[in-house]
Amino acid sequence: MAYEEGVPAAEHAGIVAQDLRKQYGERTALDGFTLRVRPGTVCGLLGPNGAGKTTAVRILSTLLRPDGGHAHVAGYDVVRRPRQVRYRIGLVGQHACVDEILTGRQNLQLFGRLGHLTADAARRRAGELLDQFGLADAADRAVAQYSGGMRRRLDLATSLILRPAVLFLDEPTTGLDPAARIDVWSRIRELVGTGTTVLLTTQYLEEADQLADQIAVIDAGRIVAEGTPDELKAKVGPDRVETVTRKPTLDEVFLHLTGKTATRSTETVLEPAR
Ligand SMILES: Nc1ncnc2c1ncn2[C@@H]1O[C@H](COP(=O)(O)OP(=O)(O)OP(=O)(O)O)[C@@H](O)[C@H]1O
Ligand SMILES: [Mg+2]
Repeated sequence: MAYEEGVPAAEHAGIVAQDLRKQYGERTALDGFTLRVRPGTVCGLLGPNGAGKTTAVRILSTLLRPDGGHAHVAGYDVVRRPRQVRYRIGLVGQHACVDEILTGRQNLQLFGRLGHLTADAARRRAGELLDQFGLADAADRAVAQYSGGMRRRLDLATSLILRPAVLFLDEPTTGLDPAARIDVWSRIRELVGTGTTVLLTTQYLEEADQLADQIAVIDAGRIVAEGTPDELKAKVGPDRVETVTRKPTLDEVFLHLTGKTATRSTETVLEPAR
């Protein structure tokens, strides 16, 4: 995976992570994390609490330096060319980053200005995003008065202010009710329709099933399985106890791959993955 300094190579567009390692003192957060996300596709990164999802996102979005390994995002090395990466990415962190006292519009304009848009361009882009995310009516209210779903939509809009080529979404719908979650899903789908590459971490397996072209399961800091939702389901095999054969759900795939025990309505025990 040779990489010429400063030259965005097509094979490094999207996301390429190779053998990333990260320790926090004695604790290993990433232990040889390798992942490739093709440009214009959505990868769902699934894993239990503490598996290393946020650490991976922080490294790929240049907020944290890896102890080992390499990564390229949108064509640039995240350690050697962090500024080039930052110009091309958006990040929705696990916790909301918008300011409560400012209005939705002010937040968007502020992020536009921080991204070096002119005042005019920031105002125009803020207006477009407020419309696109159904926030036009609430645009001039303080964010403190927004519902959880509205805040999350504003977060998502904020991450798009510079039209990123690659978007990182760390648990974008945590804490949302099902209707708000479905609403955020449809916004993400629209984005992907415009060619954005998305890495989405989630605990909601349904979310990954709905949105992702490719799913990677992370456990203890490394990817333990990868494939399309259907490929992962096929790995675990159909349920053999029920008279009507059905595919396992992604929840079952997840529990199986991460070694956790599934509580099933039948006595079925899934066979180990081959
Ligand atoms: N700043 C930190 N200092 C020390 N340990 C950390 C720090 N951040 C994360 N860790 C540890 O690194 C491991 C991976 O954490 P990480 O936040 O990446 O997991 P995660 O998959 O995002 O979990 P969650 O689903 O709970 O968000 C965990 O064991 C966590 O305790
Ligand atoms: Mg996390």
